[in-house]
Amino acid sequence: MFSLTTPYFCFHAIREFMITNTELEYKGDLFPSNIISYKQEVDSIYFTTENNVILKVTVLRDSMIRFRYTTKGYFNNDFSYAIDKSQSHGYNELNLIVEKEFYLIKTSKIYCKIQKSNGKVSIYDTDGLPILEDELGFHWEESYEYGGNIVKMSKHSKEAESFYGLGDKASHLNLKGKRVHNWATDQYAFSKDQEPLYKVVPFYIGLHHQKAYGIFFDNTFKTYFDFCHEKRNVTSFWADGGEMNYYFIYGPKMKEVVTTYTHLTGKPELPPLWALGYHQCKWSYYPEAKVREVAANFRKLQIPCDALYLDIDYMDGFRCFTWNKDYFPDPKKMVSELSNDGFKTVVIIDPGIKIDPDYWVYKEALDNDFFCKRADGPYMKGKVWPGECNFPDYTNPKVRDWWAGLFKELIADIGVKGVWNDMNEPAVMEVPTKTFPLDVRHDYDGNPCSHRKAHNIYGIQMARATYEGVKRFAYPKRPFIITRSAYSGAQRYTSSWTGDNVATWEHLWICNIQMQRMSMSGMGFTGSDIGGFAEQPTPELYARWLQLGVFHPFCRTHSSGEHGDQEPWSFGEDVIHVVRKFVEIRYQLLPYLYTMFWKYCNDGEPLLKPLVYYDQEDLQTHYRTDEFLFGSQILVCPILEPNAQGRRMYLPRGKWYNFWTNELVEGGRELWVACDFDQIPIFVKEGASIPKYPVQQYVGEKTISQLTLDTYFINGKEKSHLYEDAQDGYDYNKGRYSYRTFSVTGKEKQLIIQQHKVGEYETTYQTIKINLIGLPFNIKRVELDNEELSLDKMHFNGENFLIVDKHFTELHIIGE
Ligand code: GLC
Repeated sequence: MFSLTTPYFCFHAIREFMITNTELEYKGDLFPSNIISYKQEVDSIYFTTENNVILKVTVLRDSMIRFRYTTKGYFNNDFSYAIDKSQSHGYNELNLIVEKEFYLIKTSKIYCKIQKSNGKVSIYDTDGLPILEDELGFHWEESYEYGGNIVKMSKHSKEAESFYGLGDKASHLNLKGKRVHNWATDQYAFSKDQEPLYKVVPFYIGLHHQKAYGIFFDNTFKTYFDFCHEKRNVTSFWADGGEMNYYFIYGPKMKEVVTTYTHLTGKPELPPLWALGYHQCKWSYYPEAKVREVAANFRKLQIPCDALYLDIDYMDGFRCFTWNKDYFPDPKKMVSELSNDGFKTVVIIDPGIKIDPDYWVYKEALDNDFFCKRADGPYMKGKVWPGECNFPDYTNPKVRDWWAGLFKELIADIGVKGVWNDMNEPAVMEVPTKTFPLDVRHDYDGNPCSHRKAHNIYGIQMARATYEGVKRFAYPKRPFIITRSAYSGAQRYTSSWTGDNVATWEHLWICNIQMQRMSMSGMGFTGSDIGGFAEQPTPELYARWLQLGVFHPFCRTHSSGEHGDQEPWSFGEDVIHVVRKFVEIRYQLLPYLYTMFWKYCNDGEPLLKPLVYYDQEDLQTHYRTDEFLFGSQILVCPILEPNAQGRRMYLPRGKWYNFWTNELVEGGRELWVACDFDQIPIFVKEGASIPKYPVQQYVGEKTISQLTLDTYFINGKEKSHLYEDAQDGYDYNKGRYSYRTFSVTGKEKQLIIQQHKVGEYETTYQTIKINLIGLPFNIKRVELDNEELSLDKMHFNGENFLIVDKHFTELHIIGE
């Protein structure tokens, strides 16, 4: 390596003297020395230091640069499970300027300076504002225990900087002052600030001087992030192995950071519309009579519901892909009869395959050598629900293909519509680490490695294989998958839930944050176990949770069933009323929710938006946690305490209509909002046109014969969108969708609604009922596509509405 007289050694010695020995900074840390050469290959520039560090800088977009470091003089195969290879990137400008002290890479959005003496990187916006600057920058510690490096990065943090993102962390939305780490873990009954949790999203958003940027550290080893916790003005991230490999994404708007990250790691396909309905689950509904009873109760009580879940007890001795024939003698008949009544059946499938020579799945995997092995040869063995199990290596494409094929009977023959992947952190019982031994080997798609590298992506690869199987056999319908563990990019295959929470008020607070955080982390199709998985909620807590849950992208009640029932009717009449009312609101808002998904699947726009995302220039929003935007025009604020008659909340800037009273309220301030037990604060942005369907007991129960559009007056302009298609299937990819834009322009005595439609899908309804909310004038005249309408077609008793042909292009309401 280096002789004691090289400049490298001197530099290293100085460092050792300067730095403190903490977890991150260790006196054996090594640093890049001076850059001695560079070379450019199209979009990438390689900088080589005297001590053999290579920094590869790749410009992917004008606002996105990737940084890779190696200390060996060469790079390993460039392989990532997170990056969506089907997404294209491109930049307008890439200029490399060589100055005396530094190199400057210029794009049309950012300038990136690389210091010649030490390789430190600083990134500026085009006005010269420093956005992100190396503190110690890249450094590493050789890991003699495992081989490879512990790779480290530290950045200066700016005055009043805030930090967001990182998946499912159960901490304050703004991570400033926290240190977190990522190691997928089965964390039963986790608590606030506890970690690690189930998911791994090594992506954060920084915000200072009202400008936002993102860092995606695509490293699957155990990763750590420190946001000014160890040192007041330093942010750092590091990993137990692998490469220092991160993407810098510039905003300046948070929207640009999140959508670019989601584009990089992939956008999902549209879910079937039924998956956005209400789902009911419990550990477990069995036997068949119980499942039927639950189904019948929903219909009897007229509480809409689209999906029922079968937890592990439907299987024969917890063997995946089998049925307990005592409990479920004829699954096909049951699933099909449930389906006739509008219920889709979703079943759980875990990764642990019972060691049982008489069990076909076990035998197939054994015959094909598909199970994970210990470093010195034997199959990895661990206990989960069925007792001793072996575990498929989903990082092997052949195993994924075999796994996908196993779904034929469940999906194609029996008619199951969705699959629920659990325990895929992977979870192992009765061992202190709760997971595989670290020496277990994985194929990693032809890049063999140990569990230290593959642990965090085991869940995403299982969900991917499941997705491929369900899609194969559900085709031409869309698949529905839900997973507990995930790594960045899992949104391409699956929805998720937040794991085993607890029936406490604190967990209601936690899940509100987790769902906003997941939305900001590219993985928006997520929900919590409504009411709490462990323990039993009070009726009030269940009602408050459900009121929030209907505004989460995935909406499912689930419980361990240990302490009692957790169906909407388990808590008395008052709660039944609340549940019905709020689930009905969700079903009415399905076209709005589906449009949110369209924007997520197409543009990567998060489904839920924390206030800071909505208005990052308003400093008041930086530490808000409770209020969030459901889509882009409905503001929701849950009630998180018992006995509340209402609550204080912050209304972001702009004008908002109280959803319950239609009162127009000025935002940019805190206010008290009174609420009855069957209400939570909900506000609608002025100018919004909110599309609604009639209440249905399940998606598709009714042929929609009329769309309702709630149009809220604005003195100004606002645009709203409505995406519709066949609600399932893939015809929308062939242009058979309908995308309407409603542009509202209001003046003192006038309101104009213009409609623009693209796409070839013909909706079943012919008319739109437009509810005019908040009109500040009396209507004198109405013109529809330049023809005056007679006023008796409209109803003006406080509730102005008119029914128009769905093809209208312009509606003028003139007041007096
Ligand atoms: C795990 C899951 C939970 C499920 C249970 C039994 O605890 O997180 O949702 O009900 O296993 O399968």
